[in-house]
Parts: sequence; C-alpha cells; structure tokens
Amino acid sequence: GLNNLNAKLVLLGDMGAGKSSLVIRFVKGQFLEFQESTIGAAFFSSTVSVNNSTVKFEIWDTAGQERYHSLAPMYYRGAAAAIIVYDITSTNNNQMGLMKAILGFLLVGQYIGNPNMVMALAGNKVDLEDKRKVTAEEARLYAEENGLFFMETSAKTAVNVNDVSLVAIIVLCDN
Ligand code: GTP
Ligand code: MG
Repeated sequence: GLNNLNAKLVLLGDMGAGKSSLVIRFVKGQFLEFQESTIGAAFFSSTVSVNNSTVKFEIWDTAGQERYHSLAPMYYRGAAAAIIVYDITSTNNNQMGLMKAILGFLLVGQYIGNPNMVMALAGNKVDLEDKRKVTAEEARLYAEENGLFFMETSAKTAVNVNDVSLVAIIVLCDN
C-alpha cells in the first residue's frame, strides 16, 4: 500500500565535521568547498520515494560551535533518528569527547523522548584517506558497543550519503 511518512532527523557533532555538507549533498546534490559554519541550526526538508512509500525528511542541521551546544536538545527531541558526525581526518581530541557527550545526552533523551530513536555514527570526509586519523575499525567498535549504526561518508564524493538517510527509512518502515 501507499504510505506517507514523516521523519524528523537531526545531525549533531563537532564544528567542521561536515554536517551541513552532508545535508546539502543529500537534499540538493551539491557540495561547497567553502561551506559556512552554521549559526544556531538550519532546517531542510526533502521527500524520498521508496517502493510505494514516500518519506518526508525534516532535517535539523545543528551548529557544532560550542556556544550553541545548549540548543541541541531542542532539535533532537522527538527525532526519529540522530546522526552523530565526526571528521575522520581530525586530530582534535575534543571531537571524540564531544561525540561521547552527545551520545550520553541522546541516551538519556531516548527515555524521555522517542524510545525508538535510531542513532548513527557517520565518519565523514572519507575522500581524504591520506589524512585519516580515525580508523574505521575503532569507530565501528565504538558504534557496536553503544548500539549505533556506523558508516563512513563523503559529502564531497557522495559516498554513502544515501545510506545515512536509509537508517531513518528502515526505522520508520518498521514502526
Ligand atoms: P558547523 O556548522 O560549524 O558545525 O560545521 P559543519 O559540521 O556543518 O561542517 P561543514 O559542512 O560546514 O563543513 C566544514 C568544511 O569541511 C567545509 O569547508 C566543507 O567543504 C568541508 N567538507 C565537508 N564534508 C567534506 C567531505 O566529505 N570531504 C571533504 N574533503 N571536505 C568536506
Ligand atoms: Mg554546519
């Protein structure tokens, strides 16, 4: 039968990880070398057809800058899926610390918000293999330990950008 579903999706993670770039790649099929840093959060919507169903994504692209972190719960409350994005080339230890902090918040949020919320970890900028600092193995292990989907992506080359959205589709089709 025909199903029309709405899916609220939120992207979280350190500044410069590529959250906006992933959303713009997914929604508009574009990539900008000089993507501006997000202020507060940006909203996008996109409708995807799968078999006889359509999924309307309502995407909140949050700001990674420290001063906006307190706003994050506003955006992930009620989300069907949260994607935590990190940069595989970043040496910034804060990135991992932040990732763990975000996950902590999301896990708490799951109990008071949507208990079915799906969480995914996306290691972005996989096109910069020669600058890689985070191995896929360590990230996958971390994801497995914490019940997260895991994928490596590139907003630049579009690698796995559709898989990110598929996570949400899978959940919604299950519900
Ligand atoms: P904030 O809004 O500050 O939280 O950052 P963000 O996570 O939205 O990062 P953004 O999308 O603005 O990307 C930061 C920079 O990384 C930009 O210059 C992008 O062009 C670049 N970038 C994003 N994704 C990729 C990617 O997959 N590969 C490469 N090579 N560069 C990328
Ligand atoms: Mg941004």
